[in-house]
Amino acid sequence: MTEEELYTVYKGVYLVSSVHTPESLKYFEEFAFRQDDIIIVTYPRSGTHWMREIVPLIMSGGDPTSVDTIVNWNRIPWLEVQQTASLELEQRPSPRLLTTHFQYNMMPPSFFEVKPKVIYVTRNPKDVFTSSFHLHEAASFLVDPGPQTQFLHNFLDGKVMFGSWFDHVKSWLNAEEHIMHISYEQMIMDLKDSVGNMAQFLQKPLDHEAIEKIADRCLFKNMKKNNMSNHSAVPRELLDQTKSEFLRKGIAGDWKNLLTPAEAAYFDAVYKDKMKDVKYTFAWD
Ligand code: A3P
Repeated sequence: MTEEELYTVYKGVYLVSSVHTPESLKYFEEFAFRQDDIIIVTYPRSGTHWMREIVPLIMSGGDPTSVDTIVNWNRIPWLEVQQTASLELEQRPSPRLLTTHFQYNMMPPSFFEVKPKVIYVTRNPKDVFTSSFHLHEAASFLVDPGPQTQFLHNFLDGKVMFGSWFDHVKSWLNAEEHIMHISYEQMIMDLKDSVGNMAQFLQKPLDHEAIEKIADRCLFKNMKKNNMSNHSAVPRELLDQTKSEFLRKGIAGDWKNLLTPAEAAYFDAVYKDKMKDVKYTFAWD
């Protein structure tokens, strides 16, 4: 289906109309954050669901009950989607675990007032593009990606769900809240170290054994087996995992298997231009 049929434009970015309804966006705008909330923020396909496995395990000290029994979108709900209002988040005990794909400047007023903790995950945008392209082939709620080069242009122009990767990353780099930046590539390189750093940020001291146990459970091959985390509960009409699995490859650098040399060169040129004022050194730089 086309963008007009599937997407809504909200604050200049495309959102999936079926789940981002006027009511859910109002709910988001009026959401009352607590100072001790923990928010996972990502641009789509950067490792959101990986964090949805890691962070609850850190907070439970390694006890897997919640990741074994609660499907990931209820475990750490999206704040901006329709079903979240029914989860009664205001009844959940602190610290609440929440997720959003919104840019910094789209956060609601209470976020800026109480300044909850944020973990922001970045990923090499070429891999984000690659992962996203495959997801668009499998998900009926997303536009048909069309030819790869066309989708690449749409991605680099921000004409995709949740808008421009560049705007997203730059907006959160400017965040003044209590924020930890971590990359998908760091987690791939050393998951134990990453879990330890996140635990420190979340003020949840863990011993070596607990860190090792969490990192092992969250390895791609192990997480893939968890039916509460691998999207096997999503009906095939919405997500046809025979076309592309939701937990697809779980590696860094898969863009090399998709982009042509010309596409990669174009990507690099656009990246260089759009990121020229950014001082931050990313894992893929
Ligand atoms: P690939 O399509 O490259 O495999 P998000 O959760 O933000 O939608 O991101 C999805 C991407 O994260 C997918 O990338 C998925 O496979 C990857 N991913 C999820 N869990 C992972 C894990 N435990 N280890 C490595 N990658 C993981």
